[in-house]
Amino acid sequence: ELPYAEPYKIKMVEHIKRSTKEQRLKWIKEANYNLFNLSSDKVFIDLLTDSGTGAMSDQQWAEMMIGDESYAGSSSFKKLKKSVKKITGFKYFLPTHQGRAAENVLFSALVKEGDVVPGNSHFDTTKGHIEFRKATAVDCTIDEAFDTSIIHPFKGNVDLKKLKTVFESHPKEKIPFVIITITCNSAGGQPVSVQNIKEVSTLCKQYEIPLYFDAARFAENAYFIKKREIGYQDKTIKEIVKEVFSYGDGMTISAKKDGLVNMGGFIALNDKEVFKQATVFNIMFEGFITYGGMNGRDMGALAVGLNEATEFNYLESRVEQVAYLGQKLVDYCVPVQKPFGGHAIFLDANKFVPTIPREEYRAQALAIELYIVGGIRGVEIGTVLADRDPFTRKNRFPELELVRLAIPRRTYSYNHMDYVAAALKNVYDTRKEAKSGYVIVDEAPIMRHFTVKFEKL
Ligand code: F0G
Repeated sequence: ELPYAEPYKIKMVEHIKRSTKEQRLKWIKEANYNLFNLSSDKVFIDLLTDSGTGAMSDQQWAEMMIGDESYAGSSSFKKLKKSVKKITGFKYFLPTHQGRAAENVLFSALVKEGDVVPGNSHFDTTKGHIEFRKATAVDCTIDEAFDTSIIHPFKGNVDLKKLKTVFESHPKEKIPFVIITITCNSAGGQPVSVQNIKEVSTLCKQYEIPLYFDAARFAENAYFIKKREIGYQDKTIKEIVKEVFSYGDGMTISAKKDGLVNMGGFIALNDKEVFKQATVFNIMFEGFITYGGMNGRDMGALAVGLNEATEFNYLESRVEQVAYLGQKLVDYCVPVQKPFGGHAIFLDANKFVPTIPREEYRAQALAIELYIVGGIRGVEIGTVLADRDPFTRKNRFPELELVRLAIPRRTYSYNHMDYVAAALKNVYDTRKEAKSGYVIVDEAPIMRHFTVKFEKL
């Protein structure tokens, strides 16, 4: 059998710079040990996020050239509207400048003080937009998600018992909707099965509560369904995507992921009343409804990106490259979340560096060490990201302390993956020497991870 090869070739290259360990030690100190503070030229391989960092295709760039920048009624908007309808099946659509903007607009219409919004490990901006409105996000993810060594094909699934408990303990007026994140980023890029979505949908209907999706990585979720769920092997990705969305009332999306664009997002939904309410907020926060914070050219590129991201060959190259890195790390005995996520590999810092106290942010310490050793930028998904409890102001210690290595789409080669794995092996081989971590010296009241400053202990 012939080896695997990507279904695309490279038309343009972007240079990246190597640096020395001495330089990186200095730079990370100057950055207050916050990887978000590093300028990109100080990073060799940037795995901070898969958000807006992918490579667009020649077809998308062609759309950039013919973008219609009319304030109202641009043809690029019409193209995007048509593409959103075709891919998602939802009736109404509002463009926004990115995912959290879609959350801001939709939640302004739906979430009130004292409300409860259950879901599967809400992403931090989603949770932020819920808590900002003095409402509560309740995590109903299955328990298996919180043990990185348990193999479960759909670790992003919602635990129906937990969901039912939330439904039973609050009046339905207090639960504006349930939100399912596909794939579940906070649980490690883990997918949700059609069966689970169907069951959640049925329960929601029974209790008359709407169901929305946070669909940033909806295409990767569909790829896992095709590979893992019985009865879906012969369906196309587009068929699976349509079926998944058919169980919900609407969605928000950061198009910077499976939209294959650098900037963009949208809301799509079926309820005319909610659409009308959201329209008002969209105009107030984002812009007129036929651009909502996006350039015409970007809407054109997104229209094409949605189509490309839901092609099997593309998804196979994308998800299997992530798995290639994961398998290398497993071969080196590095503890990672299993099964591998769709967009990222998650290092299990509790197993990697148990020698560093949790109060000293061990996952952050691991992310810093990987940068120092290899010039690779990952991101902490642990206590720093979990923030303080909005009421008690105490640190929240999540079940998992992870370092995420998010792989940008169509951007790095297999050689880059080998380099990352080798650097991590070096970090792993010296892990027992790590005894202390970091202390926070400055932090914002909400979503602190972006600007937090540390000192080394
Ligand atoms: N929902 C999920 C599941 C996300 O992963 C993100 C962003 C958002 C919503 C917000 O979208 O950034 O366009 O405003 N995730 C990025 C990440 C930042 O690195 O995982 P946004």
